[in-house]
Amino acid sequence: MITGGAGGLGAVAAKRLYEEGARVVISDVNEERGEEVARRMDPDGKRVIAVACDISRPADNENLIREAERFFEQEIDIFLANAGAGFSGSLLDASVEQIRRTIDINVTGSLLSAQSALRSLVKGPSSSLIFTCSLQGVTARSQRSVYTASKHAIVGMMKALALEFGAQGVRVNAISPAATDTPFLRNQLAGVTTNVEEAMSATEKSLPLGHLPDAGDFAEAVLYLSSAQAKSITGHNLLIDCGASAGKF
Ligand SMILES: NC(=O)c1ccc[n+]([C@@H]2O[C@H](COP(=O)([O-])OP(=O)(O)OC[C@H]3O[C@@H](n4cnc5c(N)ncnc54)[C@H](O)[C@@H]3O)[C@@H](O)[C@H]2O)c1
Repeated sequence: MITGGAGGLGAVAAKRLYEEGARVVISDVNEERGEEVARRMDPDGKRVIAVACDISRPADNENLIREAERFFEQEIDIFLANAGAGFSGSLLDASVEQIRRTIDINVTGSLLSAQSALRSLVKGPSSSLIFTCSLQGVTARSQRSVYTASKHAIVGMMKALALEFGAQGVRVNAISPAATDTPFLRNQLAGVTTNVEEAMSATEKSLPLGHLPDAGDFAEAVLYLSSAQAKSITGHNLLIDCGASAGKF
């Protein structure tokens, strides 16, 4: 099950898990796009379903798990808490509504979706909860204070949940990509520059490997962390940052 599964990273991860044989629930606040992505992957609707959910709404999260368990007649074994909202710009220019919305989706929303997912994840013998965090969950960036605060919170919740639910067979990890070319990244950059292409190219050059990570890198990390090959890994934040967090380049 993937929240924010109708867009960028989530949709690519959904497809990769599907190729590997998983039955997939694409969940997104954008119901129409979620349905489109699900039907493109699986026209018959037997192995992929779409369920609308705004992760900041408790009832939506509960309904999502209920619908999935009812349709597939089993508990969830892989949950990717991926939906998130960006916010860029100086804190001095941020309205209280913008701050609350970012925290509401990224922090409260991630906690709420983890809460309802865990009620299902603990029912199986072994399961995996993965948060999509960010390079800004471990380092900071100027003009990203609100977003950075929200992603640092995700690292904390991931570690606490890993400690709490390990004995019940749930591994909890995070994946932290650096800038990856999705609509989300372009919107983030548009908040701080008028030349998005130039900013993309500058970001690329700032990374030790000289290229941005792509959504396929993210999808492979999801596949690995949710597989039996990662059976001894929990409480870990896997950075996909082309070396950005290693030091000053
Ligand atoms: N793209 C990047 O550069 C980058 C880097 C690091 C981390 N991330 C994180 O990756 C995650 C996915 O980002 P993306 O780049 O794929 O973005 P995206 O905008 O391409 O896709 C995000 C999806 O989440 C959905 N969504 C937004 N708010 C929601 C809500 N309240 N409830 C449910 N769904 C909601 C959107 O409709 C969209 O389909 C986010 O958590 C983001 O913070 C992205």
